[in-house]
Amino acid sequence: MKHNILLLITLFSISLSAQKGLKDYADFPIGSAISTWGYNRDTVSRDIHVREFNSITANNQMKMASIAREKGVYNFDPADQMVAFAEKYNQRLFGHALVWHSSTPAWLSEIENNPVALDSFMRDYIHKYVGRYKGKVDGWDVVNEAMNTAGPGWRETIWYKALGKEYVAKALRYAHEADPDAVLFVNDFNTERDTAKLHETLRMIKWLQSEKVPISGLGFQMHLRMDIPNETIEYALKKGAETGLMIHLSEVDIIFNTHDDTQGGGKQLYDDITPEMLAAQGKKYEDIVRIYRKVVPKSQQYGITFWGYSDRSSWINGFFKLKDWPTIYDANMQPKPAYEGFKRGLGK
Ligand code: G3I
Repeated sequence: MKHNILLLITLFSISLSAQKGLKDYADFPIGSAISTWGYNRDTVSRDIHVREFNSITANNQMKMASIAREKGVYNFDPADQMVAFAEKYNQRLFGHALVWHSSTPAWLSEIENNPVALDSFMRDYIHKYVGRYKGKVDGWDVVNEAMNTAGPGWRETIWYKALGKEYVAKALRYAHEADPDAVLFVNDFNTERDTAKLHETLRMIKWLQSEKVPISGLGFQMHLRMDIPNETIEYALKKGAETGLMIHLSEVDIIFNTHDDTQGGGKQLYDDITPEMLAAQGKKYEDIVRIYRKVVPKSQQYGITFWGYSDRSSWINGFFKLKDWPTIYDANMQPKPAYEGFKRGLGK
């Protein structure tokens, strides 16, 4: 009898530990970009997500083109569905992205040369959107990709052209007015590797802080390549952390081939994946997490989010016309060595 009870307890704890996911090994939230419509169709991916992660970012459905598609109308349904998913599955919801040059509705071009109208729309959009989800969306990418693709310049977006650098300050202020408790981020890509771009971003943050603009987070998208040196990444995250802001690795993936950020194309260097490459990718994932834990103080660790967690649905191959393997789960939804590497990086 006693023997049977012991056996039952052992089996029970084995099955419980089999249910553990990355979120259970981390001191900070771990997330993935999702589409609730995608997860409604693909419940296998959804169930793995719920086991592994405790944070979600919408890969598209919370962008301006989705919420403000028609002039004069806000359609909050796609964002409502993200909120419902977050509540049902106990996920932190991160808002992506309020002000960006991409995925804007077509009608916006009608007011792009009218600074007053553009500012007035931006204010109304942010107030209504952030205000509606006050207390439900934990943090926002308020301004996405303010800097040029490469080097130290500001991106000349419609927002920049009409309102100058001040558009970033305005957007952050409007968001703070709508939800004073939300963590407010600026978010960009390649800042972990392009030091000139990083330093321009840091200059922007210094300026915002000196103007008492309510910025509270810095996002590093971290669309990485295997050959980006760890030292460069460590330097960038350290400089980022020195701002005192929350640091979010907001869109992590790691590719083998080379992509061209300016043309949306890529160079296919590897046609097939080998066990050695998979192991090396595992080590890279491990290194990234270790660097994050080492140089970002605990109180500033907003978390790590994958831009999709499986090679089945990663954005990379379609976008860059590549065959690559950037994520921690393979196309058959099995954990890769990258998964184990990530977990080791968490110290487990
Ligand atoms: O939904 C429409 C569909 O109705 C239409 O038939 C089809 C035809 O092109 O387009 C569909 O929309 C596409 C959408 O993805 C959903 O698949 C858009 O054209 C396409 O531009 C959009 O691409 C997204 C891209 O951002 C631009 O918004 C990618 O999925 C998304 O992964 C990517 O995510 C960005 C982050 O927001 C910011 N950082 C970089 C990251 C990767 O590029």
